[in-house]
Amino acid sequence: MFVESVVRWGLWSILLQFGLGVSAGGCTPRCLCRPEAKEVICSGKHLNSVPEALSSDARRLDLSRNRIKTVGRRQFSGLVKLQELDLSDNIISMIEVEAFLGLQNLRTLRIKNNRLKIIPVGVFSGLSSLNFLDLSQNEILVFLDYTFKEMVNLQTLEAGENDLVFISQRAFFGLQNLQELNLDRSNLTSIPTEALSQLQSLTRLRMLRLTISTLPNNAFRKLQHLRSLLITNWPALDTIAGNSLIGLNLTSLVISSCNLSAVPYSALRHLVYLRFLDLSYNPITVIQGNLLGDLLRLQELHLAGGSLLRIEPGAFRGLAYFRMLNVTSNQLTTLEESAFHSVGNLQVLRLDGNPLACDCRLLWVFRRRVRLNFDGHQPTCSSPDTVRQREFKDFLEKELPRVFTCRPARIMHRRPQEERVEEGTTVLFSCKADGDPSPSITWISSHKNVISPAGRIRVLPNGTLEVRFAQVQDSGTYQCLASNAAGNDTLTVSLYVKGLPRNRNMSLFTEEGLVEPSNTQAANSSAQMAKPYPFDAKTLIIATTMGFLSFLSSVAICFVFMFFWSQSKGQIKHTATIDFVPRSSMGGGGGDGGDGGRFTMKLI
Ligand SMILES: *[C@@H]1O[C@H](CO)[C@@H](O)[C@H](O)[C@H]1NC(C)=O
Ligand SMILES: *[C@@H]1O[C@H](CO)[C@@H](O)[C@H](O)[C@H]1NC(C)=O
Ligand SMILES: *[C@@H]1O[C@H](CO)[C@@H](O)[C@H](O)[C@H]1NC(C)=O
Ligand SMILES: *[C@@H]1O[C@H](CO)[C@@H](O)[C@H](O)[C@H]1NC(C)=O
Ligand SMILES: *[C@@H]1O[C@H](CO)[C@@H](O)[C@H](O)[C@H]1NC(C)=O
Ligand SMILES: *[C@@H]1O[C@H](CO)[C@@H](O)[C@H](O)[C@H]1NC(C)=O
Ligand SMILES: *[C@@H]1O[C@H](CO)[C@@H](O)[C@H](O)[C@H]1NC(C)=O
Ligand SMILES: *[C@@H]1O[C@H](CO)[C@@H](O)[C@H](O)[C@H]1NC(C)=O
Repeated sequence: MFVESVVRWGLWSILLQFGLGVSAGGCTPRCLCRPEAKEVICSGKHLNSVPEALSSDARRLDLSRNRIKTVGRRQFSGLVKLQELDLSDNIISMIEVEAFLGLQNLRTLRIKNNRLKIIPVGVFSGLSSLNFLDLSQNEILVFLDYTFKEMVNLQTLEAGENDLVFISQRAFFGLQNLQELNLDRSNLTSIPTEALSQLQSLTRLRMLRLTISTLPNNAFRKLQHLRSLLITNWPALDTIAGNSLIGLNLTSLVISSCNLSAVPYSALRHLVYLRFLDLSYNPITVIQGNLLGDLLRLQELHLAGGSLLRIEPGAFRGLAYFRMLNVTSNQLTTLEESAFHSVGNLQVLRLDGNPLACDCRLLWVFRRRVRLNFDGHQPTCSSPDTVRQREFKDFLEKELPRVFTCRPARIMHRRPQEERVEEGTTVLFSCKADGDPSPSITWISSHKNVISPAGRIRVLPNGTLEVRFAQVQDSGTYQCLASNAAGNDTLTVSLYVKGLPRNRNMSLFTEEGLVEPSNTQAANSSAQMAKPYPFDAKTLIIATTMGFLSFLSSVAICFVFMFFWSQSKGQIKHTATIDFVPRSSMGGGGGDGGDGGRFTMKLI
């Protein structure tokens, strides 16, 4: 039986090779013709040129993997029924104008992996039925105006992996039905905005491996049917302008393996139909709270392989359909339930590959570990040490009272802190807190402002509050707030700053605390020119804020003015009282006193 079938098969294949090949009228000797399928297959036959006398009712012609160098004018003119032509993997460097004329039924044309450098206008004449065109892996440098002008039915254009440096503004003219365009790995230095704006039906645009560093405003205008934009492997891309995606109504956006250091919140804001967002492999460190809420329909966010340290509370607030978060391989220590609109909708969570602290903040994940789909990758604890390297599924329910717990924040070494100092001193108030996870320290002034880590009054990295060159108006109470996921603790300290002695009292202490003297009084000082510093501290501060230069030049103008004035009067004055108004030019005479200051001096 077996031998018989082998023999039969052998005969059949010999027949195929010779009998059929020869019997099909018009089949070139080196090709394999399948009349029943109306195919002519000449793939890998060492052909140097397109064979002559091809069967006129062929629907498919495969000339791939040969050594064809050129395609001449009207080369395929007899093949009116041809629907598919494959010229891939040859060494074609030249296609003459009107080469494909007569192929009015051609649907698919593949010229992938050849040596084309230029495509003269008119090469694609007559291809009005063409649906799919693959020009990838050539050496094309530019697309000239009107190159594709007659291809009204073209739906997919593969133009990737060329040396494209330029796409002329009207290159895509006529491609009114193009839906998919791939421009992978080209040498473009900017987005071909003008050319793309001709593609009014485009729904998918893919651009891999470009060296562009910025997506400028209005980069994709007029592409109102675009639904999917894929930008991947642009190692230099670090700027996405706020209005760069304006005009688009995307459902899927991928900007991965680029150099983004932040989520481009403002560029995304108007994409209210977006369902899929992938920002993986970008050095993004944080997903901020309450900034993605406009993406009402977002279902999936991928930010794998980034540099995420934090996902803030409220990060996904407003996203009622959010069902997949993929943040594998980042630097997250935790992911709090408060980040989500509702964790009830979350189905897939990739949290593996992060140095997770298994405390009360991750209890919600642990509780849902059976229902949640971890995509085959269980989250693993990194700390505390007792549970290091354990996967979530390894924990038993009865261990719960000991694991995934927190200790509320508690301020240590509590003692009343009250400082009474003179103006100009530097004061430190310490606030050290203990808890698990380790608490964050915030200082709040008596005016309920949160004190920042920079400035004259600042919070040092160890949580200590530092008031440098204390001013009278710094007096008051300050509150230290230590908080972590399990609770918070506060400590209040007081500071009294006494003004330095003056000609008259600068400040008054009353029962309520400090009362600032009014400016008019404070600015009154009767210093003499003879003294080395004729201005008091306040005047100096005002002078500094106006900028010394403008202050001095104003004073100089006053001097000059007064000099001429006294000359014109014919008598010499030896003293003068000068009023000055801070922040307004005194060139006009300095006569109006107002809220400014005044000093008396001798004229020489
Ligand atoms: C395009 O870029 C590639 C890789 O950077 C380079 O090798 C090639 O020479 C460039 N081509 C042109 C025409 O600039
Ligand atoms: C990515 O950005 C960083 C700074 O943000 C820069 O130092 C680095 O050179 C950039 N990488 C590339 C490939 O441009
Ligand atoms: C945006 O896209 C969605 C989904 O494809 C569609 O339902 C909606 O009508 C579009 N909106 C506009 C203004 O084109
Ligand atoms: C999450 O991202 C990783 C890395 O990109 C990918 O391999 C994985 O398939 C993604 N998971 C899901 C569920 O999409
Ligand atoms: C905090 O740091 C400052 C300066 O680095 C130091 O002077 C101070 O003693 C520190 N306080 C505590 C409580 O460690
Ligand atoms: C501090 O804790 C209390 C009770 O736990 C809570 O109501 C309050 O909002 C917390 N304050 C802050 C700033 O976290
Ligand atoms: C001014 O200060 C002195 C002591 O420095 C004090 O005796 C006097 O009462 C103060 N004057 C007013 C108006 O408060
Ligand atoms: C301001 O200075 C003038 C003299 O230069 C003096 O007569 C006046 O009493 C002072 N006013 C106050 C509030 O000190």
